[in-house]
Amino acid sequence: MFARRRRHLMDLAEPNSIIIVASAREVLRNGDAYFPFRQDSDFLYLTGFNEPDAVLVLIPERDGAQQILFCRERDPERERWDGPRLGLEGARETLGLDDSYPITDLDDILPGLMENCERIYHLVGRDPAFDQRIMGWRNQLQQQKRSMSAPEEFIALDHLLHELRLIKCSEEIKRMRKAGKIAADAHKRAMAHCRPGMTETDLTAELLYEFTRNGCPPSYLPIVAGGDHALILHYINNDQPLPDDGLVLIDAGCEVDGYASDITRTFPVNGTFSDAQRAVYEVVLKAQQAAIDQARPGKVFDDIHSTACRVLTEGLIELELLSGSVEENLEQQHYRRFYMHKTGHWLGLDVHDVGDYQIEGQSRVLEKNMVTTVEPALYIDHGDDIPAHFRGIGIRIEDDIRVTDGDPENLTDAVPTAVDAIEALMRG
Ligand code: GLY
Ligand code: MN
Ligand code: MN
Repeated sequence: MFARRRRHLMDLAEPNSIIIVASAREVLRNGDAYFPFRQDSDFLYLTGFNEPDAVLVLIPERDGAQQILFCRERDPERERWDGPRLGLEGARETLGLDDSYPITDLDDILPGLMENCERIYHLVGRDPAFDQRIMGWRNQLQQQKRSMSAPEEFIALDHLLHELRLIKCSEEIKRMRKAGKIAADAHKRAMAHCRPGMTETDLTAELLYEFTRNGCPPSYLPIVAGGDHALILHYINNDQPLPDDGLVLIDAGCEVDGYASDITRTFPVNGTFSDAQRAVYEVVLKAQQAAIDQARPGKVFDDIHSTACRVLTEGLIELELLSGSVEENLEQQHYRRFYMHKTGHWLGLDVHDVGDYQIEGQSRVLEKNMVTTVEPALYIDHGDDIPAHFRGIGIRIEDDIRVTDGDPENLTDAVPTAVDAIEALMRG
């Protein structure tokens, strides 16, 4: 799979190119403790290699398309402290590469590999320090050779690579289904354990328990937002008591081999929706179902959002939170007081995954095996003009949707969204 991707990328590059992609680095958290290592998504996509201090080099026109990895050498002393490394031979064989060299030799070898290449593809701006090194290697070659043999052109690799990443293959879809299923189990666990008297922290623990026992890191910091904390879009403190009669909004997902899930559910802490909560919830759910139904080949990405906005607007008028006609409210975007974000984003190795949303200024046509979230919401503020029973209600419902030839595939529907099903799960 990884070799196929590398070949595909090399086929897409202009003639006489060299492609250079670096791994992520280890990042210090504090003192000498590190953040958990997360591989760079582009590097992971092309190698499946999960170690820091590595650089992939692809040279399509050298020796029948050369694929080279620079990585850490085996080192029994270091491995005793930090764990096993694949090493040069291991990396070459396991990852299907032509050659591997010690990462410590990068400065000596890379300028030579650039010789006779006209252009360098790299992820411009991803890591400015690495960009500087690439420039340095190229300048070094130019000075050594005093000839025309050094590359003249630097090209952003992002576009080529990210177009490949946007369309998922069957192996990727398998991993995303698994990430969806495990995250759904985590949400169900949180619903089933939720009781008045608990805290946001208690529910966070239930989510992390389910992720961890499945060997999955969270794909982002979970949001567990009781009551009107749900109105803070990026609430991550997760440390307050849950309101007995309020709702709790949970936005949490996990990773399988780097592939993310991203689910939001909103449910009543005491297990039963109040009339006002249910009324708002039903509007968001209806918007979500209508929006998911737009995720079909031939529709454009914006159809998902515009459908959600229309159904939300109709609902807001029925709830008397907006007045006037649907068309007038849509035109003036009055829904934005209660719904201020977009309805979805590509999903894959990154939670907010790569890939253009527009082509030549037009919303992009959906294709089979694109995966997007669909996550409409309503966040009702405490304004004097809002009826008291609606104030502070924040509801979002988010699923991960694969575009297929036919009906959209919901990768995360193992956790219910219907009011009755949520209440039954919480009772059980
Ligand atoms: N969890 C991040 C998002 O929903 O976009
Ligand atoms: Mn999302
Ligand atoms: Mn989310």
